Amino acid sequence: MDNLKSPENEETSGLPSLLIRDAHIWTENHTIRGSILIDHGRIQKIARRIAERADEEILARRLVALPGLVDAHVHLRDMRLSYKEDFTTGTAAAAAGGFTTVLDMPNTLPPTDSVQRLRLKARRASQKILVNVGFHTAAVGDRWTAKAMGAAGAFSMKLYLPKPIAPLTVGDDRAVAEVLKAAKEASLPVTVHAEDAAQAKTTREIRTFKELVASRSGNAETSAVNRILRLQKKVDCQIHFCHLTLPSSVSAIGNSLSGRVSSEVTPHHTLLSKDSVEKLRWKAWMVPPLRPEQVKNSLFRKMASGNATIIATDHAPHTIKEKRQPPHKSPPGIPGLETAMPLMLTMVNKGKLSLRRLVSLLSTNPAKLFSLSSKGRLEKGAEGDMILVDMKKRGKIDPNKFFSKAHYSPFEGWKTQGAIHATIVNGSIVYRNEEITGKPGGGKVLRNGSGG
Ligand code: DOR
Ligand code: ZN
Repeated sequence: MDNLKSPENEETSGLPSLLIRDAHIWTENHTIRGSILIDHGRIQKIARRIAERADEEILARRLVALPGLVDAHVHLRDMRLSYKEDFTTGTAAAAAGGFTTVLDMPNTLPPTDSVQRLRLKARRASQKILVNVGFHTAAVGDRWTAKAMGAAGAFSMKLYLPKPIAPLTVGDDRAVAEVLKAAKEASLPVTVHAEDAAQAKTTREIRTFKELVASRSGNAETSAVNRILRLQKKVDCQIHFCHLTLPSSVSAIGNSLSGRVSSEVTPHHTLLSKDSVEKLRWKAWMVPPLRPEQVKNSLFRKMASGNATIIATDHAPHTIKEKRQPPHKSPPGIPGLETAMPLMLTMVNKGKLSLRRLVSLLSTNPAKLFSLSSKGRLEKGAEGDMILVDMKKRGKIDPNKFFSKAHYSPFEGWKTQGAIHATIVNGSIVYRNEEITGKPGGGKVLRNGSGG
C-alpha cells in the first residue's frame, strides 16, 4: 500500500525545487527583503534568509516578487480558430505578460456551450498550455445544463448581449432572467458583455472605423448595465461586468447594494481614446469600442482610486489579414496579454497608480472573485505562482516580438518602464529574460470549486 501515491503527489513529485534569493517580496501593502522556497509546486517558506539549497535558484536582488497575475478574460481560441491563436501561443503570451492563470472565453469554434465541449476543450488544452487555464462557458437558460457545466468546473456563464457576437447572444429580459436563475441554481457567476444592440446605421452603411465606433455609443453600455443590475436585484445571482468603458458604469456597479456584482476594466479602455481609431483604424478596433479622451481619463482615475474590481486584458487575437478588411467585415479585438503589465507598471512609475492597487486589480481581486483561493497571494502554503518584476527596465512595445500569433497592437511604439523578468507557474520557471522556458502541458487545467 505504501507505494500508492495520491494524485496530488503524483502530479508534483517530479517538480524541481526553486529558491528565489534576496528579492523584494510583496506582502499585503509593501515589500520586504527576503527569499522564497518553492517545492512540490507550493510556497514552503518565506524568510529573510533561507539556508537550504534547491534544484534551481534565482538571485533576485533588484527584482520585486509579486503573486502571479490572474487574467479573468482572455480568448485563447484554438480548436477551429487555432489559426488566430492556439493554447500554446496564447499561454506563452500569458507567461511573457506575467499571467500565471487565465480564464478562457467560450466564443470559440465550436463554442463552449455544453459539458461535452467543455471537456473536449479542457482535454485539448491540458496537452498544450504553459500557464494555468480555466474556462468560462456560454450562457444557457436550461438549468440542467447550467448545473452540469458548473459541476464540470466552469468558472462562469458568459452572457453576450450585443448582436454581432451571435450565436451566443441572449437578448430580451425574459431570456436573460432565465440565464440568471439557472446560474444562481448552479452556483455559477454570470460574466456579462454589457452592450445593448442599438445601432442606428446598418453595418453596410458604415464606411470608416470612426463611423463603426460611433455606431456603438456609450448609451448602449449604460442601458445594458442598468437592465442587468435591475434583473440581478430580482434574482440575486453573482454578476461580473466585463470590459466596462464608462466611469458611470463602474460607479453604478460599485453603488449597487447587492455586494454580488463586480466590475472589470481593460488597459485599452483606460489608456486609449477614440482619437486613436482615426490614426490606427483596425489596430484600435475592439468592442466595446474606445471612448472620448475625458471619459477614458476619468475611467483610469476610477480604476486607480479603487472603484473597479479587476483589470482584465480581453486578449482577443485575430489575423492581420482579417483585421485589414473593410470596417464592417473587420473582426473586433486586440491582443493584450503581453502589453498590460509593462503599460500599467509604467503608470506606477509615473506615480499615476499605486503598486498596491495594481496587485489587487491584477492578482488578489480576480483570484478572490473566481474562487481561486490559493492564488493571488505570496505566503506559505499558496501555489508557487509568482512573477519577478524589474521596475526600472525600460522598453518599447514591439508586436513583432509577441509570442501571441497576433502581431499588432494599438500600443505599438509606446515607451514603457517596468518589465516582467520571470514568470513562475506551479513552482517552475516558464518565462525568463524574454524567453519561454516552460513546456506545453506544464500548466494545469483548473476547475472552479477545486480551490485553484
Ligand atoms: O473586441 C472584442 N473581441 N470584443 C468581444 O467581445 C469579443 C472579442 C473576440 O472574441 O474577438
Ligand atoms: Zn472578450
